[in-house]
Amino acid sequence: MTEATVIGGSGYTGGELLRLIVGHPQLELGQVTSRSKERRTVTSVHPNLRGATDARFVHPDDLEDTDLLFTATPHGYTMEEMPRLRDHADTVVDLSGDFRLDDPAGYDEWYDEHPNPGMLDEAVYGVPELYRDEIRDASLIAAAGCNATASILALHPLVESGIVDDEDDVVLDVKASSSAGGASANTASHHAERSRVVRPYAPTSHRHQAEIEQETGLDVNMTVHAIEMVRGIAATAHALVEGVEEKELWKAYRGAYGDEPFVRVAKSRRGVYRYPEPKVVEGTNYCDVGFEVSDDRVVAFSAVDNMMKGSAGMAVQSANIALGYDEGAGLGFNGMHPV
Ligand SMILES: NC(=O)c1ccc[n+]([C@@H]2O[C@H](COP(=O)([O-])OP(=O)(O)OC[C@H]3O[C@@H](n4cnc5c(N)ncnc54)[C@H](OP(=O)(O)O)[C@@H]3O)[C@@H](O)[C@H]2O)c1
Repeated sequence: MTEATVIGGSGYTGGELLRLIVGHPQLELGQVTSRSKERRTVTSVHPNLRGATDARFVHPDDLEDTDLLFTATPHGYTMEEMPRLRDHADTVVDLSGDFRLDDPAGYDEWYDEHPNPGMLDEAVYGVPELYRDEIRDASLIAAAGCNATASILALHPLVESGIVDDEDDVVLDVKASSSAGGASANTASHHAERSRVVRPYAPTSHRHQAEIEQETGLDVNMTVHAIEMVRGIAATAHALVEGVEEKELWKAYRGAYGDEPFVRVAKSRRGVYRYPEPKVVEGTNYCDVGFEVSDDRVVAFSAVDNMMKGSAGMAVQSANIALGYDEGAGLGFNGMHPV
């Protein structure tokens, strides 16, 4: 068994990691950290885990050596602490944005100056559909952002097939759920303000644009809305390209994802859910992708659960690859219908 420790275990993605670890056939839970909930039981914060663990939160300064370390902390923590954290574990999977960008200048532009820029080269971007071979040898994995995961997986087949390139105009519209903002409340997340909104909160740019442009090579024009959903990301990409036929798109998407265990092409003529829909993938590690085409435009869709394929699920998928386990170990849930 591999011992897995979670830093930031009282947060939303931390809680999802705990759910996956306690259900994983090869992982056993090590420490779970929280400064504000130190000594409290994990189930007092994550009631869904009642009966599955009797662990209590410990302070992150009391971190002990472990096999696999997941860090589910806000941006800025691992950027500073990663050298120390890596001394405690053979494999680290970071869910924050602190090691996703290759170029330190990207941190100056989108985040803060990076205190450990030399370590950026050592981190593998944790999207298995793009970097499976690199993840196999990785000791530091930077799980992708939730909006970025949905957007990259929607666009990747278009780029790989050459249907869309960096000369084309791409507009990316992302709808994000409330859990994507984490467990800390603010005025905008207060129920009275958040309920029933369709609120543009990043109208002309978003930090995840940096990862999306890095991984697709495209120049994307991105807008993000906060919407009425607890879990889920829906991404819609519009590329203004002429003369593309539907059969080319089928070839591109089947070619990219035909053998992928966690990406499904969702496009059909009949049924209620003819295209990707976040509630269909809720609780699962799937990214559903779909597309449509007209004379002068290709539209690509995708849906993920931000706390699964958009963070904790993909982090476990990457850890499974790095540790040589079955890629889908602990990730078998197919979702529910109706929800
Ligand atoms: N939410 C999502 O859907 C999502 C998706 C993809 C990626 N991410 C990324 O994943 C990370 C975690 O997100 P989240 O939504 O789970 O956040 P969250 O709900 O706010 O949880 C943050 C966790 O980190 C701990 N923490 C905060 N500051 C810390 C510090 N200085 N030192 C040690 N621990 C600290 C918190 O506990 P204490 O303060 O009690 O220590 C808490 O357990 C973020 O970087 C986020 O951008 C989130």
